[in-house]
Amino acid sequence: MTVKSKPTRQQAAKEIEELREQINYHNYRYYVLDSPVISDQEYDRLMRRLQELEQLYPDLVTPDSPTQKVGAPPRAEFGTVRHSVPMLSLQNAFSDDEIVDFDRRVKRLLKMDKVEYVAEPKIDGLGVEVVYRDGIYVQGSTRGDGYVGEDVTENLRTIRSLPLRLLKTKLPIPSLLEARGEVYMSKKDFAELNRRREREGEPLFANPRNAAAGSVRQLDPSVTASRKLSIFLYAIGRVEGVEFSKHSEILEAFKGWGLRVNPEIRLCPTIEKAIEYHKTLEARRKDLDYEIDGVVLKVNRLDLQRRLGEISRSPRWAIAYKFEPEQATTVIKDIIVQVGRTGALTPVAVMEPVHIGGVEVKRATLHNQDEIDRKDVRIGDTVIVQRAGDVIPEVVAVVKEKRTGKERKFRIPDKCPVCGADVYKDPDEAVSRCTNISCPARIKQSIKHFASKGAMDIEGLGSKLVDQLVDRGLVHTVADIYRLEKSDLVKLERLADKSAQNIIDAIERSKQTTLPRFIYALGIRHVGEHVARVLAENFDSIDAIQQASLEELTSIREIGPTVAQSIYTFFREKQNQKVIKDLLASGISLAHPRRRAAKLDGKVFVFTGALKDFKRSEAKKIVEDLGGKVASSVSRKVDYVVVGEDPGSKLEEARRLGIETIDEETFKKIIS
Ligand code: IVH
Repeated sequence: MTVKSKPTRQQAAKEIEELREQINYHNYRYYVLDSPVISDQEYDRLMRRLQELEQLYPDLVTPDSPTQKVGAPPRAEFGTVRHSVPMLSLQNAFSDDEIVDFDRRVKRLLKMDKVEYVAEPKIDGLGVEVVYRDGIYVQGSTRGDGYVGEDVTENLRTIRSLPLRLLKTKLPIPSLLEARGEVYMSKKDFAELNRRREREGEPLFANPRNAAAGSVRQLDPSVTASRKLSIFLYAIGRVEGVEFSKHSEILEAFKGWGLRVNPEIRLCPTIEKAIEYHKTLEARRKDLDYEIDGVVLKVNRLDLQRRLGEISRSPRWAIAYKFEPEQATTVIKDIIVQVGRTGALTPVAVMEPVHIGGVEVKRATLHNQDEIDRKDVRIGDTVIVQRAGDVIPEVVAVVKEKRTGKERKFRIPDKCPVCGADVYKDPDEAVSRCTNISCPARIKQSIKHFASKGAMDIEGLGSKLVDQLVDRGLVHTVADIYRLEKSDLVKLERLADKSAQNIIDAIERSKQTTLPRFIYALGIRHVGEHVARVLAENFDSIDAIQQASLEELTSIREIGPTVAQSIYTFFREKQNQKVIKDLLASGISLAHPRRRAAKLDGKVFVFTGALKDFKRSEAKKIVEDLGGKVASSVSRKVDYVVVGEDPGSKLEEARRLGIETIDEETFKKIIS
């Protein structure tokens, strides 16, 4: 966190005024137009800064400040509903430290040294309240500004997972129940909805939250009904006829009445457990079928909640521990074209740098011309950029409201930007390709791929070095790598004698490899690590694969006609045949792991903690060479969790899911 010096009262007053104006505008965009122009994270930042300044100078707080309001006024076309108990908002935290502070504050106020929390996923949807009288659904409303929301009774009625009648089980049915929760759209339904809208030429939703909000706030409930919405319930307003003493009891009662409760909710006896929960859930975020943007922690005992009360419209007994954001807004400064290993021309947006998920992002893929046209992306546009997990950042949508008229459209050139050769676009494909197989860009990319970890794994032969080797004419094909001598390398910029020797050694070592790695390294289109392994399992040698007929290839269960054609064509090409011959002549030896592979075939491993005798990457390589897979997080698909020293939360997750955990010695036995 950056430390800012304390502003003077005058400076604060000025900044406060600017912040209020901005926040009011964004509230309007979000709540009234359902069309936000900044990400939630940016909005949170503005709001936090305003709160910070108002705390420094409390006399500058005015009743009309956005901090004094939970949301924005309801749309006039809907009837309004006054919430009998205000729907509060949550304070946000962004680090473990802030959570520890929260826990300390709670304990200090309560004068207690142990407090139990309930940890829940923070669903990224639309907050609503549903009212049941004598077990019958009678009203539904949006949160609105926290006091008054919109009457969306008929719209919420169409949500399939919302019961119109509470189930009668052992529990008595309350005469009145105001249940609160989040309406959301699953990632799958969101993708489907956008596909449909695209076909019908309608504007796309930027994310599932906007889609859910837009669907609930429809004046015609039949439109809402046509959108697949879901709901999770997580809180109550008023309730009559039933008593609760803990939040967890409320959730249990909800389940009993047939109200949908998120299955990931956990009890946390200590704040450390809650922090661990946050970490585990963030790692699993991408595997969930709905979007979440953090964890909500709530003091479990309701009497303690009452004692803690609330401050500036947020309860003191709850907090939202946000995840690293996955989206941000920025400006496209330029669009450039990269040429890949298969000659594919990929348009790439060069942007004002933004931080997303703790990483600085300057470039994002625009995929191809069709995508650029579909999203109508132009140079100078303000855009929403997304980066989730390890995937390449991409431009999700344009914020069209920010257009000034100076933006420029972009078209993929019809000559390769690297070698000047013609560009060809197959009418059945979205991508354009450079037609020159000796295009330096293609050569560089194929060499980089050849040397990469999953392929020949030549340590030290990285991107910059490959560029130099190709630019200086030292390497024309991958086979030339094996003709390099130390004297060639020391001539290059910034390469010390020692490093040059290391690279020569790594090149030498890479000669001992396996058949699937070699096939993968060749960079045949559509042949990833999996298909390479399948080929190695079905043929005895590289020679047999080279000789295979199209029919033979197509008859392999896991290889479809497009892939088979691509493999077949690759090996018919004279140049490719020569490169393979040269490679084998340079002494590359291909172990055939077919028999051994049977051993770990299809087995999935997860590593947690440090191993004594292997680096993580080595262990991964061994497992993969034996036909197994290594996953980064624990799920039910995992067979073994290998536990090293100082294991992390994955161990706990494994125990929870009942997955076999093994130590390093057992792992060694399995792979020996
Ligand atoms: S509890 C007083 N629990 O986040 C506590 N809220 O900024 C009220 N949200 O308006 C909310 N998941 O729309 C709670 N598991 C969860 C939640 C959740 C999402 C939303 C909700 C609320 C906002 C708070």
